[in-house]
Amino acid sequence: MLAWNFFPFLASLASAGIGKRAVQTDVSIYAYGVGINGFLVYADSSSAAVIADNATALANNLQNITWTIDPKGLLPWNVTSTNSSSTGQFYIVPTSTEHQAAGFNTTAPPTGAETVGFVIYGSTVEYATETTYESRFYAQNSSTGVWSLVWNSDSETLDNGVPVVLKTVAPPPRPNFD
Ligand SMILES: *[C@@H]1O[C@H](CO)[C@@H](O)[C@H](O)[C@H]1NC(C)=O
Ligand SMILES: *[C@@H]1O[C@H](CO)[C@@H](O)[C@H](O)[C@H]1NC(C)=O
Ligand SMILES: *[C@@H]1O[C@H](CO)[C@@H](O)[C@H](O)[C@H]1NC(C)=O
Ligand SMILES: *[C@@H]1O[C@H](CO)[C@@H](O)[C@H](O)[C@H]1NC(C)=O
Ligand SMILES: *[C@@H]1O[C@H](CO)[C@@H](O)[C@H](O)[C@H]1NC(C)=O
Ligand SMILES: *[C@@H]1O[C@H](CO)[C@@H](O)[C@H](O)[C@H]1NC(C)=O
Repeated sequence: MLAWNFFPFLASLASAGIGKRAVQTDVSIYAYGVGINGFLVYADSSSAAVIADNATALANNLQNITWTIDPKGLLPWNVTSTNSSSTGQFYIVPTSTEHQAAGFNTTAPPTGAETVGFVIYGSTVEYATETTYESRFYAQNSSTGVWSLVWNSDSETLDNGVPVVLKTVAPPPRPNFD
């Protein structure tokens, strides 16, 4: 029965999960990497997935989004822009050998886009393939300081790019050392 049976983790999540780890609403997703200290994932005006600190996000009119996710990876993850009713489905393009932008499928998604298979492992977003869980998210900086979220299939070094981990938990407040 499909590939799901190959995953003991997924299988146990699926059986243990009824009611316990069902669909979660009003989720925010944060990116962590070098120079990216738990910044929110936003949508830009082209429905691309981008990452920015608060001030840069405000300066660039990025749209706050809330996520409705299925931690078990069986349903697509939907996002709603907090100041509009427009929704989209989160996608990555894992088929390419190169890095490809991630985004929200509101109109036609790019060829090879996948919207199903995203799981929460601990509090980390991973993508379930037939054999393993993967996190190949990178952030690529731009001249505005807004980072593009990409899926870097071959994990080659990326110009202005750093690996990032996506999590459903916000960064803790900074300790006050004074
Ligand atoms: C982002 O900046 C705005 C405006 O300065 C502020 O009201 C808001 O609290 C900030 N949010 C966070 C999460 O720091
Ligand atoms: C997104 O939401 C957070 C938390 O409410 C807020 O601090 C921040 O300013 C918002 N960012 C934008 C770009 O509206
Ligand atoms: C959401 O709010 C931001 C900031 O006010 C604005 O720039 C953007 O156009 C709005 N998006 C939509 C879809 O209304
Ligand atoms: C996302 O939206 C699709 C299409 O409306 C729906 O089938 C799916 O169940 C939704 N996903 C979640 C996690 O609710
Ligand atoms: C993209 O969105 C459309 C409309 O919601 C949906 O029919 C289609 O299956 C989605 N395709 C992918 C690859 O996400
Ligand atoms: C990202 O790019 C902006 C604009 O060039 C720059 O100011 C910022 O320092 C860069 N961030 C990192 C972590 O390299």
